[in-house]
Amino acid sequence: MSRTSRILLVALVILAAGCAAGSGAALPDADSGAGRHYAARCGTCHAAPHPRRLAYSAWQALLPLMERRMQERGLDPLTETERSQILAYLRAHAR
Ligand code: HEC
Repeated sequence: MSRTSRILLVALVILAAGCAAGSGAALPDADSGAGRHYAARCGTCHAAPHPRRLAYSAWQALLPLMERRMQERGLDPLTETERSQILAYLRAHAR
């Protein structure tokens, strides 16, 4: 993805998500395996966003960008299991 389209994507996501709004709600299914993967891997740099903040297609588009952020910070990359659990979790609970 080009730099410009990445910036556009992030701007769109932030607009759609309203950034601070809704971040206080408890995560659904927090005790499930997928919920724990999600909270652990998506709550390191910022609070793990509530899955209802975006449509599943937007989560799919955002995930590679977040994986790049992990790489930039020297965090372990998502394993296949983590990525598929996180996507399943987002698909189940997206708006
Ligand atoms: C390595 C740190 C890091 C991790 C881990 C991380 N993010 Fe992010 N996230 C960021 C940064 C930095 C931004 C700000 C936009 C940018 O620079 O990409 C961001 C922005 C976001 C945004 C848009 C801004 C907002 O708050 O509305 C969402 C949604 C998001 N992240 C979701 C996730 C999800 C889902 C995961 C787990 C797969 C995740 N993030 C894991 C660093 C991280």
